[in-house]
Amino acid sequence: MIVVTGATGNIGRPLVAELARRGHDVTAVSRAGLAPLDHRLVRGVRADLAEPEGLHAAVDGADALFLLVPGSGGHLDTERIIGIAAEAGVRRIVLLSSLGAVTRAGSASHAPLAELEKRVQGSGLEWTLLRPADFASNALAWVPTIRSERAVHAPFGDVALPAVDPLDIAEVAAAALVDTGHGGRSYVLTGPAALSPRERTGVLAEVLGVPIAFVEQTRDEARADMVAYMPEPVVEGTLGILGEPTPQEQQISLDIENVLGRPAHTFADWARRNMGSFTV
Ligand SMILES: NC(=O)c1ccc[n+]([C@@H]2O[C@H](COP(=O)([O-])OP(=O)(O)OC[C@H]3O[C@@H](n4cnc5c(N)ncnc54)[C@H](OP(=O)(O)O)[C@@H]3O)[C@@H](O)[C@H]2O)c1
Repeated sequence: MIVVTGATGNIGRPLVAELARRGHDVTAVSRAGLAPLDHRLVRGVRADLAEPEGLHAAVDGADALFLLVPGSGGHLDTERIIGIAAEAGVRRIVLLSSLGAVTRAGSASHAPLAELEKRVQGSGLEWTLLRPADFASNALAWVPTIRSERAVHAPFGDVALPAVDPLDIAEVAAAALVDTGHGGRSYVLTGPAALSPRERTGVLAEVLGVPIAFVEQTRDEARADMVAYMPEPVVEGTLGILGEPTPQEQQISLDIENVLGRPAHTFADWARRNMGSFTV
């Protein structure tokens, strides 16, 4: 049995589906406890990572754990979370980290993830680290204004990043959880091309078949929007990546292609699959 945390999110949902498709029993963990799909191999379990002792029921009898922490996980007792998994018999752990854990390891936004990576590497379990770039699904934050005024409001309109499709992250995670050869490996997961917010807006307009304006926000305007759904230090780190990316943060990685044997999905692929979210 494989335990997937963050099971109702952007990565968790396709990951649970992929594991079930491959014939594995899956325990899908979230605070709501919902099974992300109705499948005989999938059970939803309610647990809050902020209360690790509540995880016993979820991990009992599990072979492998996909660990996704909300934000950068700085507020969680991750040592206890990993300890409970190990005591329950989990042998393999796949951590959803971030490229920022490497490029911004010393920053308040990403230091907790860098520490968590070390904890996972020192856990005695077979480990794999996933270090994704900016998610393509961050464009879902543009849904309200695309629907209401056919416009995207975002900062740093011409700074390009190789956003990664969460479906690709999920498929790499599934491979690392169930296949051999991924233990002790760290994968940088990016899309196949770097696109700016203005270019992504153009892709969405093409996919949706409607004109969409791009309105560049100032850093302060963007910060004011982001604090509504992200902890303050994570907002600062994210603005740093979006506005002043390092060369490594703009670089395209071939790790998805190397693991999956096919190229990474483009932003247009993600947009086509998710166009229903943007239409009223
Ligand atoms: N967005 C990016 O560009 C980016 C880039 C690199 C890395 N990351 C990493 O990706 C992760 C977040 O991904 P996302 O934004 O795509 O997530 P998401 O789809 O919003 O999903 C979050 C999932 O975690 C669950 N969850 C949240 N808090 C929880 C808690 N305390 N206990 C148990 N489950 C909890 C949620 O379900 P409930 O609400 O029902 O609990 C949901 O299933 C973070 O670790 C972040 O560092 C993101």
